[in-house]
Amino acid sequence: MVILGIETSCDETALALIETRKIASDNKNAVGTEYRVIQSLVHSQAELHSAYGGVFPTLAKREHSKNLVPLLEKILKDLPAKNKKHSSFTQTLNTLQKQYGEQNFDLLESFKNVPFLENIPNIDRIAVTEGPGLEPALWVGITFARMLGELWNIPVVPVNHMEGHVIGSLLDDDKPYGSWQQLKELSLPAVALLISGGHTELIKIEDSKNTDRAFKYTLIGQTRDDAVGEAFDKAARLLELPYPGGPHISKLAHEAYEQKIEPSVKLPRPMINSKDLNFSFSGLKTAVLYAVRDARTANKFGDNFKKGLAYEFEQSVSDVLDSKLRQAVENIGGQSIIIGGGVSANHVLRKRFQKIAYDYNIPIFMPSQHLSGDNALMIALVGASYSSDKTNINSKEIRADGTQKLSR
Ligand code: KG4
Ligand code: ZN
Repeated sequence: MVILGIETSCDETALALIETRKIASDNKNAVGTEYRVIQSLVHSQAELHSAYGGVFPTLAKREHSKNLVPLLEKILKDLPAKNKKHSSFTQTLNTLQKQYGEQNFDLLESFKNVPFLENIPNIDRIAVTEGPGLEPALWVGITFARMLGELWNIPVVPVNHMEGHVIGSLLDDDKPYGSWQQLKELSLPAVALLISGGHTELIKIEDSKNTDRAFKYTLIGQTRDDAVGEAFDKAARLLELPYPGGPHISKLAHEAYEQKIEPSVKLPRPMINSKDLNFSFSGLKTAVLYAVRDARTANKFGDNFKKGLAYEFEQSVSDVLDSKLRQAVENIGGQSIIIGGGVSANHVLRKRFQKIAYDYNIPIFMPSQHLSGDNALMIALVGASYSSDKTNINSKEIRADGTQKLSR
């Protein structure tokens, strides 16, 4: 089965193609699935949004609308077509334009004069992110998926973005594209820590009995205010670093470490001693704000101050995440750990998480660099995991859900 994944929940326009096949295991009874990545493309809008210091939803919507069809043309070059031309292409496209036209001007414009759409590709299923994320951005991906589904008569399945971050961590992305592999096996119950620009969540993962997701997910902790990535981005802004700020803070922190620069302030470790598994990062941002203000007043807002503060900030976040993740593993008797979301690219955090897994003697799954940020490969993988019943839904019923929860 070939699956096209579509991801537009934030500021990355992403498409991916994967292929799956059933395999019999050694005892010939159990049947598993193998996956093969055909291609994964991510078009980042980060530079455009950096002028606004964060993602600007209307701009994200417009950019997704302009980028999707050209990205599709590019990705389909890696897929043999069915050699079947659409029998009523112009007529179907006209109907779709009437149906979706009003709110999707840019997207519909991009559908004009692109003859490649007339060749029906060898795709069996389309998987699209339905939430959580920025609703105007999500709607572009959903409308695009629905249009392709109707144009080519392919079922469309809606996917939760956070489940994508979970399942994406189970793929061995170091394998070259084209080679077959199974997803890494997760010992259950598992703890997932999802850390991105919009989310900071601890999730208990169990067997998927009676749910329509790949696993059963229960939210066991979350942020009360800012997400970790958001805190990184806000702190970076205060230190006059570009958006997205996480990698910049991380670079400065590393320089402080290498150059043995001592931080000039001590930042709080919010909620580190609270008995629950919740987080709060807005106070940390305020502490950075005050430290910057004081340094400016004292004329000390220079490179060394910034490096020291970036280091202390990263340490504070690491201490809090470390403590809460350990607590979560203990509370649920976790047998493995999954880390997902853009912030998992951070090397200091990765080392901390690895140490936790080592201390508890359990496996840990972290996404490779390519899969830590938003991408469509993870969306295609989740779409592939659904039974074919779920593909019976009417694609017109798929709606963007900006605050969609993973746990039910
Ligand atoms: O998952 P993601 O790509 O998009 C969302 O769904 O939010 O996460 C983006 C977030 C941004 O806040 C960015 O600053 C952060 O991930 N990030 C990092 C690093 N790389 C990306 N934060 C800390 N250290 C990094 N190396
Ligand atoms: Zn994400």
